Amino acid sequence: MIYAGILAGGKGTRMGNVPMPKQFLTLNEKPIIIHTVEKFILNNDFEKIIIATPKEWVNHTNDLLKKYKVNLPKIEVIIGGNDRNGTIMSIIDSIEKEKKLNDEDILVTHDAVRPFLTHRIIQENIEQGLKHSAVDTVISAIDTIVSSEDGEVISSIPRRNFMYQGQTPQTFNMKKIKELYNQLSDEEKEILTDACKIFSIKGEKVKLVIGEIFNIKVTTPYDLNVANAIIKGSLDK
Ligand code: CTP
Repeated sequence: MIYAGILAGGKGTRMGNVPMPKQFLTLNEKPIIIHTVEKFILNNDFEKIIIATPKEWVNHTNDLLKKYKVNLPKIEVIIGGNDRNGTIMSIIDSIEKEKKLNDEDILVTHDAVRPFLTHRIIQENIEQGLKHSAVDTVISAIDTIVSSEDGEVISSIPRRNFMYQGQTPQTFNMKKIKELYNQLSDEEKEILTDACKIFSIKGEKVKLVIGEIFNIKVTTPYDLNVANAIIKGSLDK
């Protein structure tokens, strides 16, 4: 079966002094998270859509779903984890509580704060997720990527045509990601900020799906301005 997991368990510290985590801030008259949920409910392939938020924001999220009339029976709000991968694991645990996982069960995970994903990106994640254990959405690196280990001088300049920038969705075979995650030491868990890295450090293939430049993640106040410009641009067309 195909599940969606919307990752909204963060506190948004890089957004600065705002009254609520960034996923609940308004973008063109609607909370960012509602824009994201609306993209997922357009796809009928999902058995369930699970949204994971900090504990104290679960009720608020349920209220928003009702207010914006997207409170479908297949949507459930749960409590997220201490870090992003912990949130993914909480989502898988909640699915597993209702039904034993099958080898074919996949989870399309997506940052709640990337409201501009497209139907095509979701569809390709599902198609590739059914064929591969892990899928990452990426775009070609636009700028040259420079690596520096000490932050003082360049260590290397990788060839730009080999470089990509990671986005989401990231799609996983649920049994597989759980198995690999449980093999990690606490130290490895701490340095793994990206769920696809769980696969790549264990030598497992991660299939690429091409995203979109506009599939941005709202991280800072500047990104919120960009997001407003993107949405305004799309409404003007
Ligand atoms: N996320 C999550 N659970 C966590 C931490 C993050 O579901 N424990 C989610 C965020 O809510 C966000 C996405 O992962 O939708 C991308 O993470 P990021 O932009 O780093 O979000 P925050 O952790 O909220 O931001 P910051 O690092 O600025 O505090």
